[in-house]
Amino acid sequence: MEKRMRVAINTGGGDAPGLNAVIEAVTKAAYNRNWEVYGIKNSYGGLLNTDDIMRLTPENVSHISSIGGTILGTTNRGNPFQMPVTNMAGDTEIRDVSDKVVENFRRLRFDCLIAVGGDGSLEIAYNLFRKGMPVIGVPKTIDNDIQKTVITFGFDTAVSIATDAIDRLHSTAKSHDRVMVVEVMGRHAGWIALNSGLSGSADVILIPEIPFHIGKVCDYIMELELRGQRYAIVVVAEGAAPAGGSIVDKGQGEIGRQHMVLGGIGEYLAKEIAKKTGKDTRSLVLGHLQRGGSPTTFDRLIALRFGAAAVRMIEEKNFGTMVALDPPHVKMVPLEEVIGQIKNVPADHDTVKTAREIGISLGE
Ligand code: F6P
Repeated sequence: MEKRMRVAINTGGGDAPGLNAVIEAVTKAAYNRNWEVYGIKNSYGGLLNTDDIMRLTPENVSHISSIGGTILGTTNRGNPFQMPVTNMAGDTEIRDVSDKVVENFRRLRFDCLIAVGGDGSLEIAYNLFRKGMPVIGVPKTIDNDIQKTVITFGFDTAVSIATDAIDRLHSTAKSHDRVMVVEVMGRHAGWIALNSGLSGSADVILIPEIPFHIGKVCDYIMELELRGQRYAIVVVAEGAAPAGGSIVDKGQGEIGRQHMVLGGIGEYLAKEIAKKTGKDTRSLVLGHLQRGGSPTTFDRLIALRFGAAAVRMIEEKNFGTMVALDPPHVKMVPLEEVIGQIKNVPADHDTVKTAREIGISLGE
């Protein structure tokens, strides 16, 4: 008789619209094979404190695919290889508690962990795989910066939200003859800024992959003025930086956090533009709005397909791999080839060429 598999699933890093769709698809596809599914809460936290594990059934995940966030909770501070632990003296020290994670995983007789996450969480999954834990990765992030997959779920929703915001800024910018600077997320990749800026008819798009010259940005804004357009929309990725300058960040944030907190380039740019052009300039940061609410149809579909594919991969015992989109197919790639490097916008990408060809300034 076929073994009744016990599948664990967790969601790690920043949330992204579509996480619940993966959970729904995994649960239903597993139950249809007569397997059991357990949700590990708060990233890897539920494998340390095993009270934080919930049984998932087709009933309790029914139609959650349309809901944003994750019913399992998530964190970008829960790396079991570098866990902040408070000692008896009240000091916080960083410890490797990964053995405990593997021990609990085995004690609970799980056959596989489906780790749904971004680059940080997938790297943790790969390191646990190297310690003998069967894992399958599912790529999520609004930033779309994971290697070996054309798209991650969450990205389409973030771009749609940012595009809608940029669309709305046109009328207010035009009414006041103002320059509006919109800072969008994306960490060190410019995918959100590029796609939303292009779709929302921005005048200037600044991305981390192309260091910008503030003089060029200001010249372009004044050139628009001469042509009769007295307002401008500038979309800037949070990780963009001036040529020869550095990224604006807010430091590492909480102890044990996987990545530094980016942000502030929009405000910096607005001040520089106002100073150099004399134009009334305002900045806004879209921030976590880009991660909130229901996933778009595209993200739901990708997430459902990724979840079902992950279960197929367990059936075929293809552990240590990640589900990836290679349109029109969903395929698997070794986790080893995914981690340690992010997927940036290539300089010769046709979206970059399109922006240039239709007259958008990239600050070059
Ligand atoms: O990786 C997703 C992301 O939203 C980035 O675009 C952003 O820099 C970061 O997470 C924000 O993290 P937090 O939710 O911890 O503020």
